[in-house]
Amino acid sequence: MLRANEDYLKLPGSYLFSNIAKKVAAFKEKNPDAEVISLGIGDVTQPLAPAVIEALHKAVDEMADAETFKGYAPDLGYEFLRKAIRENDYKKRGVDIALDEIFISDGAKSDSGNIQEIFTKDVKIAVCDPVYPVYVDTNVMSGRTGTYDPETESWSDVIYMPCKKENNFAPQIPDEKPDLIYLCFPNNPTGSTITKDELQKWVDYANEVKAVIIYDAAYEAYISEENVPHTIYECEGAKTCAIELRSFSKNAGFTGTRLGFTVIPKELKDEDGVELNALWARRHGTKFNGAPYIIQKAGEAVYSEEGQKQTKEQVAYYMENAKIIVEGLKSAGFNVSGGINAPYVWLETPNNMTSWEFFDYLLEEANIVGTPGSGFGPSGEGYFRLTAFGSRENTIKAIERIKKLSV
Ligand code: MLT
Repeated sequence: MLRANEDYLKLPGSYLFSNIAKKVAAFKEKNPDAEVISLGIGDVTQPLAPAVIEALHKAVDEMADAETFKGYAPDLGYEFLRKAIRENDYKKRGVDIALDEIFISDGAKSDSGNIQEIFTKDVKIAVCDPVYPVYVDTNVMSGRTGTYDPETESWSDVIYMPCKKENNFAPQIPDEKPDLIYLCFPNNPTGSTITKDELQKWVDYANEVKAVIIYDAAYEAYISEENVPHTIYECEGAKTCAIELRSFSKNAGFTGTRLGFTVIPKELKDEDGVELNALWARRHGTKFNGAPYIIQKAGEAVYSEEGQKQTKEQVAYYMENAKIIVEGLKSAGFNVSGGINAPYVWLETPNNMTSWEFFDYLLEEANIVGTPGSGFGPSGEGYFRLTAFGSRENTIKAIERIKKLSV
C-alpha cells in the first residue's frame, strides 16, 4: 500500500518562514495600501558585488564556447573554489584543511538539513533553544525526535539547551549525553556568540563523550570582536569531533544565487572507526550534482582582492543597519541583544506579549514584519527577531515607526 512517510506527518504546521510569508500575504491582500517593511527572514537586499557579477558574465561566456564549456561539476566541487576556500577561510586562520575535506554545495540550509542522514536513526540530538528550525525539522523527518508536545512546543527525544538572557544566550553542556550537537555561532536567531575558550570546552566535551558537533558558521563574516572564533577548527581537537557548515548567502549576498560548503575532516570517525568524510562523499556523489560552474566561479570571485573589499563593504552596511536597530530599540525602551557580531537583533517583547502577539501587533500597527522568537523553539517565547539585512532606508523607517508605537 502506498503511504506517505509517517515521520513527515509528525511535523506541526508549515516551515516557520513559509508560515510567516502566508500571514504577510494575507495581510497585504486585506490592506493593499499598507507599505509593509520586512525585517523578518534573513534575506539580503544589496545587489551582488561587481567582482562577482563580472565573474558570472565571464563564466556565462565560457559556457557559450565549445572549448571552455562545462558539463557536470566534479563531485566535491571545482578545485579552484576549494583552493580559494582552503587558503582564505582556513590557512589564513592557521588551520590546515585538505581539499578533499571540502564539499561544495548549493548552500548551508540543505547541508544542515541533509547531514543528519549519515547517522543512525537512534542518535540523540542536542540543539540550542531557540534554534534555526531546519536542524530540528529535518531530524523530525528522519524519525529521530520522538513525540511532539504542542503544549511546550517541543519533542520528547530532543535535548534542548536553553539560551536565555540569564546565560547570555549561550548554551550550557547538557546533563544528558547527546550524540549530535548542533551549534551555530554567531547565532541565528539570537545574534549571540561564544569565545574561543568557550567553544574549546564544547570541543573537549564532544571528544570526551564521542559526540559530533555540527557547527554552523554561516554568519562568521559578521564577527567584529576579537576572541570570537571564525571556524571551529581554530579549537584544538576539533578535527576529531566537528563538521563545519559554511555559506556564501550572508557574507556575499548569494541567497538567490546559492552556494555553500561543508567541511568534514578525515580524522572524524564514528565509534566503529567509519570515516564520516567518506560517507558524506558517497552521499554527495549519489544525491547531488554540484553547484553550477558559473556560480562556483562567482564564489571564487568573492575571494579575489576586489571581491573581498566589496563583500566586506556589504557586511559593514548591514552591520550599520544592526547598530541603527539596536540603538533605536534601546532608546524606545526595549531590552535588546545581538547585532554586534551578527546581523540579527533579539528583543524582548513588550508588555508580556507572546512572540506571535507581538508579530501581529507590529504587522498591524506599524506594517513591519519580524520573526516571532517562539518560532525558533520554546525558549524563544517572549522574544522577537529583527534582521539587519534590509535596505538602509527601510531600516530607518521601520525603527521610526516602532518608536512611535505606544508600547
Ligand atoms: C533566517 O532568516 O533565519 C535565514 O534566512 C534562514 C536561512 O538562512 O535559511
